Amino acid sequence: MIDKTISKKNILITGGAGFIGSHVVKRFVNKYPAYHVYNLDALTYAGNLENLIEIEGKDNYTFLKGDITDENYIKTIFKKYRFDGVIHLAAESHVDRSINDPLAFAKTNILGTMILLNAFITLWKENWLGKRFYHISTDEVYGTLGETGLFGETTPYDPNSPYSASKASSDHFVRAYGETYNLPYVITNCSNNYGANQFPEKLIPLFINNIIHNKPLPVYGDGNYTRDWLYVVDHAIAIDLVFHKGIDKETYNIGGFNEWKNIDLVKLLCRQMDEKLNRKEGSSARLITYVKDRPGHDLRYAIDATKINKELGWSPSVTFEEGLSKTIDWYLANEKWLGNVTSGAYQEYYELQYK
Ligand code: NAD
Ligand code: TYD
Repeated sequence: MIDKTISKKNILITGGAGFIGSHVVKRFVNKYPAYHVYNLDALTYAGNLENLIEIEGKDNYTFLKGDITDENYIKTIFKKYRFDGVIHLAAESHVDRSINDPLAFAKTNILGTMILLNAFITLWKENWLGKRFYHISTDEVYGTLGETGLFGETTPYDPNSPYSASKASSDHFVRAYGETYNLPYVITNCSNNYGANQFPEKLIPLFINNIIHNKPLPVYGDGNYTRDWLYVVDHAIAIDLVFHKGIDKETYNIGGFNEWKNIDLVKLLCRQMDEKLNRKEGSSARLITYVKDRPGHDLRYAIDATKINKELGWSPSVTFEEGLSKTIDWYLANEKWLGNVTSGAYQEYYELQYK
């Protein structure tokens, strides 16, 4: 277990310029002044340093631009900064992209994770006191549910997309390193996140952006696919809790207790957007367009989050209606962020800021 009261610690957070990672980095930098947080990110299309402007100048924060698949670089930074804890979020994360380029997912999600694991065990060997490797994973490793049932921590892995297969594989390696090298790890498998700073290729931010610009809302298939949605800030709170209080070699499922069929979610989003944009009721819903289905589309995901709730006292802090409303407000108040992301201008930020 990581004891935050003991002393100064160097914490590596990978993928901290991405959607969830940026919320975790901000939380750790602001809440734990005794930690030095190193944010390692390759700044792929999904990494955006504009997500982190509010903590940029903080003394306990350092950004490292690097790729987790670059073994020499990873070895060098582990030697230099001797990270006590790793919170590993860096990944290729979009199912649709994994269908077009599966190899990129194997490289980052499997090989990249193994390179981090190797660097961590080389550094600490059997001297594990106060050390922890925290691997962030997804509920998609469990495959798909029918109309009923929930994913528990012991549900067998049954991934259906190249994305979920690569995440499942990385989870297995983390566990295997626990058994083989006694690595003190924790894994969490979380449901679909939504909130501020999500790249507008995922359902909710894509549809918010399209509604703003009166563009069609492409609903895959018949829209009767179900996801369990969690507000990203609640995920960051859960990650903080598991990092500090989770038990070594345990897995925790994290979910919103909040299942929505895609089409019902889209209709709720349309209603909230009409209201916030002062548009006539029904105008956003008119943009809904049913399009060709995603291949291998998982019917339903739903998480049983009883374990983290009972053992660590975590539960979501907002209802979906509140979280969605806050999310829309954030995108409407940050049209510059959205414009920079959709135009690609955000990728110039690193050059401007760091070179
Ligand atoms: P994201 O795509 O928004 O961010 C990923 C970040 O990783 C980006 O900043 C990117 O630049 C960085 N990255 C990618 N490849 C890299 C590499 N080779 N080296 C270093 N950095 C690299 O993803 P997200 O939605 O924030 O997801 C973060 C993690 O949480 C992932 O591991 C994902 O599998 C998991 N997860 C996501 C969700 C979700 O709904 N978004 C749900 C459950 C679990
Ligand atoms: P997504 O946000 O890509 O997350 P995931 O695939 O990890 O669940 O998609 C959420 C759901 O929305 C999923 O069932 C696919 C569907 N979807 C659409 O119907 N249209 C879209 O344009 C996108 C991006 C997703």
